[in-house]
Amino acid sequence: MKGFIFKSLLDFTEESFGLAFVDEMISEVELDSEGVYVTFESYPFAELVALASYVSVQKQIPMEDLLEAFGLYILPELISKHDYVIKDYTHPLDLIEGIEAHIHIEVRKLYDDAELPTFNNISRTENRLEIEYTSQKELSHFAIGLMKGTLKHFNTQGNIEMEKLTHKDKTTKFVIELIN
Ligand code: HEM
Repeated sequence: MKGFIFKSLLDFTEESFGLAFVDEMISEVELDSEGVYVTFESYPFAELVALASYVSVQKQIPMEDLLEAFGLYILPELISKHDYVIKDYTHPLDLIEGIEAHIHIEVRKLYDDAELPTFNNISRTENRLEIEYTSQKELSHFAIGLMKGTLKHFNTQGNIEMEKLTHKDKTTKFVIELIN
């Protein structure tokens, strides 16, 4: 996973729990990188899991809640750092619908060895999107945080339902419904 994501996790942890806690985490968790991350470099996903697990255990926050909060936190950063990618979107569901065919394609041009998930758009009306997310990493709670962040970015409100599909491997279905 890209250094960009690791750096954001450290920032998120610092803003939530302070610099002393980040310092303690970096010395306690066994890290090949020693906690120094370069935006465009790749680091083992296991290292991200180790850092998030440390926060989850020490601060007694369920991993799922932590990943969702991290997704919500990182979305504005993803947008501001890559604004040329999303500048033409005016509707949150257009943006989410465009991840697979446009946004993550642009991401791959920038970060050539990025390990990206697959999104499959199932159905769409003006205010409702059904979409399936497939990833070896199974970061569905991170994904829901990113989706909630996207709704917030456009000042819209909505409900997001999540259902783990048993008939499709490593796939979660999301139904996003905007409230007018
Ligand atoms: C400006 C918009 C976006 C940018 C620039 C962006 C970029 C990225 C980058 C750089 C990664 C990490 C890849 C790696 O480290 O190897 C990533 C992963 C991911 N992105 Fe996006 N992304 C954007 C929007 C979204 C949105 C709206 C979603 C909503 C669900 C999303 C879902 C994910 C997920 C779930 C991952 C984790 C990888 C996995 O699950 O396998 N992204 N994205």
